[in-house]
Amino acid sequence: MTSRVRVGIAGIGSHVPEKILSNRDLEQLVDTTDEWIVKRTGIRERRVVSPGENCSDLATAAAQKALAAAGIAATELDMIIVGTVTADHVFPGVAPQVQVNIGAPQASAFDVSAACSGFLAVLNCGEAFIASGAARRVLVIGAEALTRMVNYEDRGSCILFGDAAGAAVLTPFEHCDQGEILRRSLGADGTGHSMIWMESGGTKQPHHMEGYDSSRNFIAMQGREVYRFAVQKMAELIETSLEGTDPEEFGLVIPHQVNQRIIDGALERVGLAPEKVVVNIERYGNTSAASVPLAWDEALRDGRVERGKLLVLVAFGAGLTWGSALVRW
Ligand code: COA
Repeated sequence: MTSRVRVGIAGIGSHVPEKILSNRDLEQLVDTTDEWIVKRTGIRERRVVSPGENCSDLATAAAQKALAAAGIAATELDMIIVGTVTADHVFPGVAPQVQVNIGAPQASAFDVSAACSGFLAVLNCGEAFIASGAARRVLVIGAEALTRMVNYEDRGSCILFGDAAGAAVLTPFEHCDQGEILRRSLGADGTGHSMIWMESGGTKQPHHMEGYDSSRNFIAMQGREVYRFAVQKMAELIETSLEGTDPEEFGLVIPHQVNQRIIDGALERVGLAPEKVVVNIERYGNTSAASVPLAWDEALRDGRVERGKLLVLVAFGAGLTWGSALVRW
């Protein structure tokens, strides 16, 4: 059996659109209040794409920052994988657009659809390609323009989502000497496929088909059911990621920024203090595949990520899907 290549994170970058949609702004659009949103979710504002600004633009900007942080040229990449459910087009994917935008003609490029687990899915893929020796430098990106799919008449869901992108450059650990991916996992339960979804617009119900219902061409979800699943799954992923590790080595959990109450509920279950978790949901809401790398990038820039300490990344979302990674920074 060939030995696996150890994989590290050479650099991380993120990008958010400039335009802010505050809870007060939402009060003008739908029957809600700033107080309700803050109390039930922890969100105060989120970023939204402007006309002409698309998922591929956010992904490109995050990618350029990650490459700069890694000190690696786009021409050195051999693969680009984007996790997104809000690509500019139904097809082709965002990754080939990023390939052109950053100037990486030698890199293969494809998208992965795993909703809010998207970044963990592409991180898992990138790690596996390098570990097996099939790739050397892989750019993985979580990018979403979710607000283009939000129904601003549905107060139960429209308050949650925002737009952003986050990216990481993966290389053999011996080349970057940081961020070794020690463990990773992915999972799914397709029986929950209609718990969070956009029912129309795919090939089952395209817009030109008789009976097409445009009200189903938006994100829809069963909030309470997702809530219960999310608390339990987040706690389970944190626990299994840390199994057998030395508590002295533990640094931070960087969870999917789903809802402050979900994060608090999971922390309580696993007995972790709030200062051990990175949370920026107040300013960005739930940015789906972008949320983990966005929080990770901010924590790095804020000096919260200590060298040598363990980071636990966890995410879950539509599908239902989930993923985790244990990284030594
Ligand atoms: N403003 C004011 N009231 C609202 C509201 C809003 N934006 N959204 C819902 N409500 C109302 C409901 O209509 C309901 O009223 P009723 O009691 O008169 O029927 C009441 O608030 C409670 O609704 P409920 O759905 O039980 O609230 P909740 O505490 O579960 O919070 C969510 C709703 C959506 C914030 C919460 O369930 C959640 O975060 N779920 C997870 C969803 C998610 O993150 N999905 C993506 C996963 S990747």
